[in-house]
Amino acid sequence: MHEVLFVTSEIYPFSKTGGLGDVMGALPLSLFNKGIKTAVITPFYGRMNLDGNKVRLVYSDLHVGYPWQPITAEIYQVDYHGMPVYFVGRGEYFDRRYYYNTHNGDYFDNCERFIFFCRAVMKWARLLPGAPQVIHAHDWQSSLVPAYLHFERQQDSFWKNTKSVSTIHNLAFQGRFSGRFFKDSGLPAAAWNMDGAEYYGDFNMLKTGIAYSDAVTTVSPTYAEEILGPEFGCGLEGILSKHSEKLVGILNGADYKVWDPGDDKFLPCCYSSEKLNGKKECKETVLSEFHLSPELQDKPLLGFIGRIRDQKGVDMLIDIIPELMKKDVGLIVLGEGNLSYEARLLEMMESYPGRLSVQIGYTEEMAHIIQAGCDIFLMPSRYEPCGLTQIYALRYGTPPVATAVGGLCDTITPYPSPEATGFTFQKADSRLFFKAIERALSVWQDKDSWRKLVQRAMRKEFSWDRSADEYITMYRNIGARL
Ligand code: ADP
Ligand code: GLC
Repeated sequence: MHEVLFVTSEIYPFSKTGGLGDVMGALPLSLFNKGIKTAVITPFYGRMNLDGNKVRLVYSDLHVGYPWQPITAEIYQVDYHGMPVYFVGRGEYFDRRYYYNTHNGDYFDNCERFIFFCRAVMKWARLLPGAPQVIHAHDWQSSLVPAYLHFERQQDSFWKNTKSVSTIHNLAFQGRFSGRFFKDSGLPAAAWNMDGAEYYGDFNMLKTGIAYSDAVTTVSPTYAEEILGPEFGCGLEGILSKHSEKLVGILNGADYKVWDPGDDKFLPCCYSSEKLNGKKECKETVLSEFHLSPELQDKPLLGFIGRIRDQKGVDMLIDIIPELMKKDVGLIVLGEGNLSYEARLLEMMESYPGRLSVQIGYTEEMAHIIQAGCDIFLMPSRYEPCGLTQIYALRYGTPPVATAVGGLCDTITPYPSPEATGFTFQKADSRLFFKAIERALSVWQDKDSWRKLVQRAMRKEFSWDRSADEYITMYRNIGARL
């Protein structure tokens, strides 16, 4: 029997488009290693990276029972470091080139795909020997599961002791579809109202999860407060405020088994806060691999890694590049997303050969070596539920320059505090961003202060161990018997 069942549309190393994948690759295992019987269920994508894990078919004919046809799913299983990970398979939904969207936009049938996934999760969980104590759903793609549980629990004693949790990793992605899809979900008509699944006539999956979960969490304490107001609430501040007593912010951790410069298979040379020399070698490699001038070895090298989107403040980065390039610095940008920002960045690269390198794409290996080889990490996010890249940057001795929002506030101690680990600016504004970079560059001039800042950053600990304990406390607070 599983005590906690995680429901997610991504789990590293099998699937990942961003931080959700990283979190799911670490948090469930952390609970599992604390002795809690944990399992994960996720889609079986055609493009998955099985990473040498043996996958076996455990059920070939799961009747998911869409309202209009007897549609079935296969269930596969991998024992990942001993923890069961179940995969819901249905080729026509999940065997695609991308996870959620192509460059032309979202897949037209995303609503159908993830209704199918959530229904399959419930059917599979119903077949397991004994109900879990907690079903923990992540983001809109999994959000219908707590709602199904809420209604099934009223009729089926199998579920009577099962609690549900919804975690919001990014409130901007809500799974909002035309209201006509509501009936396909199979939820009862009682859920179709402004306190439930309906949002201005549309079917809103994330809102449905918020309404019917026993607890709602988000990934940093500051973001948990921010989303109760109109600036960051993405239109859901009303329903969140209504349910604020069940909302809690639990800060993400970093998986230091994957992100540790002392033991990182992608780096040409490892290093630690005591032995920083290897970082220089990483910088040398980065300069040559990204075709940057070797003269930058003794100059500040700035890096950005992330989705090329407004959330990440890429427009502000583009705004300041000409002025930044007047200074004696180099810059590497790695990411993909908005096509016009990508084109702008590539155009700019032509203007600053040897000083600006732009890599469009998604490459795990490059992300690691950029973290290690740069001196300063840029993260001018407009909003940031938690943010993991700045946490990795701290560990890699690459102090971040970031907006003081969400999880960035909760993870970076800003200069000039004697405990400083990075630099922040008050709101998403290009001028303020540029000025914060200037502050970082001036500290960089003083080798001794910079080394101390780097070492403080590297010694900061954001382990999953602490976050996992907070999740266990929250599960118990809602009545789970763990
Ligand atoms: P978000 O989830 O909002 O995208 P996070 O900072 O929480 O932001 O997590 C981003 C994760 O995705 C990190 O592991 C980061 O290294 C990775 N990542 C983002 N863009 C790329 C890219 N272009 N190539 C490789 N890894 C990337
Ligand atoms: C989301 C957020 C990011 C967070 C990640 C993992 O993608 O944008 O801030 O770190 O989820 O929780």
